Amino acid sequence: MIFQNIISLLSKPYKMQNKYISIGFSNILYLIIILNLFACKQSGDQNAIYNISKSVTADSAMVASAHPLATSVGLDIIRQGGNAIDAAIAVQFALAVCYPGAGNIGGGGFLVYRSKDGEISTLDYREKASSFATADMYLDSLGNPITDKSLYGHLAAGVPGTVDGMVKAFEKYSKLKDWKKLVQPAIDMAENGFKITEREAENLNEDQPLFIKYNLAPTAFHKDKWNAGDLLIQKELAQTLAAIRDKGRSGFYEGNVADHIVNEMKAGGGIITYDDLKAYQAVWRSPVTTMYKGNKIISMPPPSSGGIVLIQLLKMVEPYDLRSIKFQSAATVHLMVEAERRAFADRAKHLGDPDFYKVPSVLTDSSYIQRRMVNFNPRVANKSDSISYGMIESEETTHFSIVDTEGNAVSLTTTLNGGYGAYTVVRGAGFLLNNEMDDFSVKPGTPNMYGLVGAEANKIEPNKRMLSSMTPTIIEKDGKLKMVVGTPGGSTIITSVFQAVVNVIDFDMDADKAIQSPRFHHQWLPDVIITEKDAIPLSERKLLEIIGHTFKDRNAIGRMEAIVITNQGKLQGAADRRGDDDVKGF
Ligand code: DON
Repeated sequence: MIFQNIISLLSKPYKMQNKYISIGFSNILYLIIILNLFACKQSGDQNAIYNISKSVTADSAMVASAHPLATSVGLDIIRQGGNAIDAAIAVQFALAVCYPGAGNIGGGGFLVYRSKDGEISTLDYREKASSFATADMYLDSLGNPITDKSLYGHLAAGVPGTVDGMVKAFEKYSKLKDWKKLVQPAIDMAENGFKITEREAENLNEDQPLFIKYNLAPTAFHKDKWNAGDLLIQKELAQTLAAIRDKGRSGFYEGNVADHIVNEMKAGGGIITYDDLKAYQAVWRSPVTTMYKGNKIISMPPPSSGGIVLIQLLKMVEPYDLRSIKFQSAATVHLMVEAERRAFADRAKHLGDPDFYKVPSVLTDSSYIQRRMVNFNPRVANKSDSISYGMIESEETTHFSIVDTEGNAVSLTTTLNGGYGAYTVVRGAGFLLNNEMDDFSVKPGTPNMYGLVGAEANKIEPNKRMLSSMTPTIIEKDGKLKMVVGTPGGSTIITSVFQAVVNVIDFDMDADKAIQSPRFHHQWLPDVIITEKDAIPLSERKLLEIIGHTFKDRNAIGRMEAIVITNQGKLQGAADRRGDDDVKGF
């Protein structure tokens, strides 16, 4: 039966954008697409503590973030006359309090901005390796990686970038011009406490042993048992935020807070120094852009791999008419996975901090990308050991999407890397250190916590930024804002954004369907398609197995926040049902 299906599948032409190609298959036999499998039953889900809404339409402004308290902080700022950047700064600080697993002041991130007039820019506030970092700092005497060392505790942390990033965003684009107003909501929340959600309580309970192991004294996160609705009070964090409110960048990188950080490092075997803190600078960088089926994709350049890999993925599938090949059909999944295999091979070889490594500009050239797909075979899965990078002459993060009343947009992804970062809280300062050093390639070919491999381009060097997969993205069409999107998820970030973009542009989905639809992911190595439950209908999955793909199921991939601007100019927002994420607008 399956064999017959394959035969009939292969006998149909594989429809490209404007023509049919002779070999390949279509999915005419598989017209029943399970578009609504994971889609919401109704918008406006309630949970016991917060009024969380997953799907809304609004006329004027919108914030979608990982936590309802952060969403309302952002909207309040816009109501008070702030623009998208003002809201983003307030949301970043609010998340550092109410979403401690990923929101942060001890980590870093990337911001993509598009003004109402179409001006575009990106801000890189990624963490950096300390000036005392060395290429072999996570290797034992035999040269083998000691994985825990780059993942937990003081030595796992890069120099935090968030506070300088927010200051730079404020200086360049704030409309409110009232820094204190942007930081204050976070201070109040940390000082007075806020009720934790059930999901947060579960996470904190599960991770108690790690908090105990990687801290030299009890932290605000210690408790025998957390329950939904318990107040999480973070007094020391409130003091640190107050220093940031009053002194801006020097409130964090110098003075008392810097003392706390350096003391913590000395006590716990970390290597971040006063000079490292003082020297940290966030950087404005030109976005990477491409046209995809008439839409301008605007995304994050290195040191994130997100934008370049997303561009490669979109350009690799652009010649094909995905709508006629059908959503989540074997043919569509095969095509997207083969693109992912190739783009992630390039990522491993060619991408790293551009201040240290010359990232080849050809990676986003259409002709180069097309060449990468010449050995794509619609009938057979390539094996990753037969696919290399192109030859050239060289789990926890959080995302939020904001559109303000004027039409300015911010797409921002920020992280500590793993959930609760290094698990180490800086005593006296109350914030969690990141474990971003694990995003470096600690040894060529050795997978990091996301199974990603790397080489020379992403090796550890003093003061270097570690390669990221974060892909905050903005799309415009015909000169107008069309979509603001992004997600956490380590290596799956790029493929999740890829799917959301394709869902909206190729499959005409609304924001909610585009992000709630189940996801799949391939990253070259390991050579396996990772899927959420029921992401690919069983019949299609069997076909994919026959042509050589293998599968591994996992739970939720990503927590996406998207805003799509409809043809009528309405803001259509969606917050991921995989988390406590919340979208609201007015
Ligand atoms: O920068 C990166 O690519 C990673 N540090 C992101 C980590 C992440 O998304 C974890 N979230 N689930």
